Amino acid sequence: MDSIDGKITVVGAGTIGTLTAYNLIMRRSASEIVLVNRNSKKASVKAFDISHCVPGIGGTSIKGGSYEESAGSQVIIITVGVLPKKNGSRMDVMQNNVEIYQDLIPKLVTLSPDAVLVIVTNPVDIMSLVAAKYSGFTYRRTIGSGTLLDSLRFRSFIAEALEVSPEFVNAMILGEHGESMVPIWSKIKIHDIPLEQYVKDKRINWNKEIKEDIFQKTKRAGWKIRQGNEHSSYAISYSATTIAEAIIQGSKDYFPVSIEQSFKYGEKGLYMSLPVQLGKEGYGKVSKLDLSNEEESLLEKSFSALKKNINKVNF
Ligand code: LAC
Repeated sequence: MDSIDGKITVVGAGTIGTLTAYNLIMRRSASEIVLVNRNSKKASVKAFDISHCVPGIGGTSIKGGSYEESAGSQVIIITVGVLPKKNGSRMDVMQNNVEIYQDLIPKLVTLSPDAVLVIVTNPVDIMSLVAAKYSGFTYRRTIGSGTLLDSLRFRSFIAEALEVSPEFVNAMILGEHGESMVPIWSKIKIHDIPLEQYVKDKRINWNKEIKEDIFQKTKRAGWKIRQGNEHSSYAISYSATTIAEAIIQGSKDYFPVSIEQSFKYGEKGLYMSLPVQLGKEGYGKVSKLDLSNEEESLLEKSFSALKKNINKVNF
């Protein structure tokens, strides 16, 4: 069976990068998947291992090696970078990762001048802007994984509280992938029924404390994994795969991912998550959300928090 004709490269053969390459193969996201790494041998042997799944899947291929193998990619997913320490914050690793991108991004975009970049490296909203600047691409062709991961977590915790299957919970987190992220309670639907109507009809006990508990679990999920001496990798890899697939295959769906915000806030050079359509040209139409005043105000706070941090970056 055919897959979409195209090349997706994953940069970084660590846990997240390798899982993402594996996910792309298992989902036959594109005809050609490439895994590259500064230590090309590591990427090569990981791709060699994954390649032995292909006879059972068909319609796709994988190879691994040095950055040069990424040439001619339509989508490049960048997972490299220093990971936050156990009791640190995503911002702690910002300057280290800016320096990695300063060297890496020009190399990648020279090899794939028409690619769309999908940024996973944290702090992802800052690193998306850094990647956009070092690539010289239009903002549209640089997208951060943003709060898609947080939205998946939010949906899981809402489903748990309401005792429904998470795939029937439609919910979003927007803004920063970080402390100032914003739960969009006003737009949540359960089996396509607005949340407030659903809990009323089902006579479910629902109050501010329950909502706050769900939101705190969402915000802390990454750190809960870190407290277990691990780094989140599976759901972020699923998020990156979902984004790359929507770009290379085109999609009418809206994804909460990190995009440049000057159209909304008038100031160039800041990324955070809003629901947007994705396709071969990068991000396109932004969903016109009729948010509550409180949600709009929280989004502005998120924008301000990011603005404070971007001013600390030495480009
Ligand atoms: C997390 C990382 C990916 O939230 O920022 O798990």
